[in-house]
Amino acid sequence: MASISLLQVSVAILGFLTLHYFLFKKPHGRFRRNWPVLRMLPALHMALHRIYDYSVKILEISNMTFPFKGPRFAGMDMLITVDPANIHHIMTSNFSNYIKGPAFQDVFDVFGDGIITTDSELWKNLRKSYQAMIHRQEFQRFSMSTMTRKLKDGIVPLLDHFAEKGTSVDLQDVFGRFTFDTILILITGYDPRSLSIEMPEDELAKALDDVGEGILYRHVKPRFLWKLQNWVGFGEEKKMTRANATFDRVCAKYISAKREEIKRSQVVTDISVAESGDLLTSFIKLNTTKYKLLNPSDDKFLRDTILTLILAGRDTTASALSWFFWLLSENPKVVAKIRQEAINTDISRTGNGQEHLDKLVYLHGALCEAVRLYPPVCFGRKSPIKSDVLPSGHKVDANSKIIICLYALGRMRAVWGEDALQFKPERWITENGGIKHEPSFKFLSFNAGPRTCLGKHIAMAQMKIVAVEILQNYDIKVVQGQKIEPALGIILSMKHGLRITVTKRC
Ligand code: HEM
Repeated sequence: MASISLLQVSVAILGFLTLHYFLFKKPHGRFRRNWPVLRMLPALHMALHRIYDYSVKILEISNMTFPFKGPRFAGMDMLITVDPANIHHIMTSNFSNYIKGPAFQDVFDVFGDGIITTDSELWKNLRKSYQAMIHRQEFQRFSMSTMTRKLKDGIVPLLDHFAEKGTSVDLQDVFGRFTFDTILILITGYDPRSLSIEMPEDELAKALDDVGEGILYRHVKPRFLWKLQNWVGFGEEKKMTRANATFDRVCAKYISAKREEIKRSQVVTDISVAESGDLLTSFIKLNTTKYKLLNPSDDKFLRDTILTLILAGRDTTASALSWFFWLLSENPKVVAKIRQEAINTDISRTGNGQEHLDKLVYLHGALCEAVRLYPPVCFGRKSPIKSDVLPSGHKVDANSKIIICLYALGRMRAVWGEDALQFKPERWITENGGIKHEPSFKFLSFNAGPRTCLGKHIAMAQMKIVAVEILQNYDIKVVQGQKIEPALGIILSMKHGLRITVTKRC
């Protein structure tokens, strides 16, 4: 009896100590706790729901670099860094030693051999071919006209509808549909019309959402566990397998339709197809010898290309626009300044050409500020081919994992100053009123070095066109009482969306 009481007391004391430890110890201290077997894994899982803010605190008190220890033999150890000197070293000066690596390809396997997942020679050749396609005058014109048309025929009638009805709408959902339709037209030439008053569910968009969630879980689970889950067909992995099948089917449909269209145009010299600016047409007609790609006439190559480009261009821009409008709702003075700038540059009369958009310096600053504080791609992952010592003094072994946490980088006081957490578009404007350039190892939201984002200019133009149209013609009010917080995922979206009401301005 006495021994049972002793056991009960011991359990109670242990319980109390554990509870006290988790309730009252500083959260970031908890995160750094190294347990005997599982090491920092329990802390990571406990902090997962607030991982972004934890990462800021931990990196701030760890001098911007933090070695995370996972359970032994689970392959989860990683060096988390936001030190700009390390970033410059990894992304630019020692670029050839830092690859995404086979572990990254494994996690992102549904995207096959697209530009986001590949390394070395294959990546180099893909990059050259993507650059050539995206920088074509024809594609530039096509993207500008597509974005403007989607805005006028999609977003404007939708906002008019909700303004008239006086009901609320999820602005993040609207932007997600807008960027999905736009990027799909740019890639395939076909409009999925997901942006409409009925807000229909699109199976491809849904599959992409499921994959985003699954990929995040693959990052925080031991590899053998998610592999086993995938094999058994359980949980997020079951959704991944289903999504993969959707990708195969939908992409095959687009590819065969495009091949048919090209064949028809060669017979009938259909001008609209011959002059079509979409990327799929360009990739099907690609000069294979010039770019030394694996098998560019192969449907698998085209499937991977379509998916990679949707991944790169859809949620990224939608996330940036959503956080931007959220930040505006908290900063009405910034809204007034953007409106004044649009009036001063008379953008409504001069149109949406790139040269006119370039005049919107303050808006440019506000958008950079939004993606600094809420970088749509919120972490990057690299692996050294050969062991190395980073400028911060940390040794990294060959094939080890390095995580660059972009969310924390944008909020580091050591990088951005004491006002790092404030939304200040003025940060991006020079004394002469021009755009202030910040080095990419500090402002990493569009990546840095040879792997810099290829769609940065398209995305910035798209966001400027949308911002001017909405701010000049509508008043947006965020519905009170909703919780705004980032969701866990590979793209930094809003967990519960952004419900707004809208009224038309006179
Ligand atoms: C606000 C919008 C966007 C942001 C913040 C953004 C950010 C990024 C980042 C951080 C990367 C590096 C990813 C990595 O290596 O893991 C990247 C790569 C890339 N982005 Fe973007 N992106 C945006 C929009 C777009 C758009 C609209 C397109 C296409 C039209 C695009 C095309 C690409 C491509 C092709 C790459 C791969 C580059 C390479 O690996 O060589 N992006 N982007």
